[in-house]
Amino acid sequence: MSVMIGGSVIKKYNFERLGEETMAKVKVFRCRICGDPYIGTEAPTRCPFCGAKTTYFVEADKWDTNEFNVNLSDVSRKNLEAALQLELDNAAFYDCAKKAAEKANDHYSFAKFKALTKVEREHASAISKFLKISAPELEKKTCHANAQANTKEGWQREDRAIKSYATFRDEATESRLQEFFTALVEIETDHLDLHAKYLK
Ligand SMILES: [Fe+2]
Ligand SMILES: [Fe+2]
Repeated sequence: MSVMIGGSVIKKYNFERLGEETMAKVKVFRCRICGDPYIGTEAPTRCPFCGAKTTYFVEADKWDTNEFNVNLSDVSRKNLEAALQLELDNAAFYDCAKKAAEKANDHYSFAKFKALTKVEREHASAISKFLKISAPELEKKTCHANAQANTKEGWQREDRAIKSYATFRDEATESRLQEFFTALVEIETDHLDLHAKYLK
């Protein structure tokens, strides 16, 4: 159906019906790796905040409020602290790479490094929840002017992160932390693949 407004013809939507259809389908989900909520008809293939896979999502009304309340062993505390430093360092590096790409008018690399900065910051924030501290601010880091060189360094950083998190997963006695580090290994492997594609 169309109507005339101010001389132009615009399509008239049946808002009542559209609302009913949308309301019936969308739900609130929560990611168990970062804790952030997501609205959609189904859980995303990757968490838009931390990159975790669909399987880590639950419907928000089934959220366990103790997800981040874990009695940490000394080893897991030490490993979480090391993971926090790693994430902050990688986030700061990607932030520098993002700015370098913007300066070079490289839109693809700008988008990629911007997304990676956000995801690694989110990891730092999730780790801080286990440690019961506020997520520290990012420090300034240097990087290369060239996106190819930053991609190569990004690959090396992700490779290092994957190896560290696999060790942390194996050293964890808490099932929740085994799961958390498993998810981080999966996410950083996605990042590694993303960089590898650009290095071919
Ligand atoms: Fe998430
Ligand atoms: Fe990360």
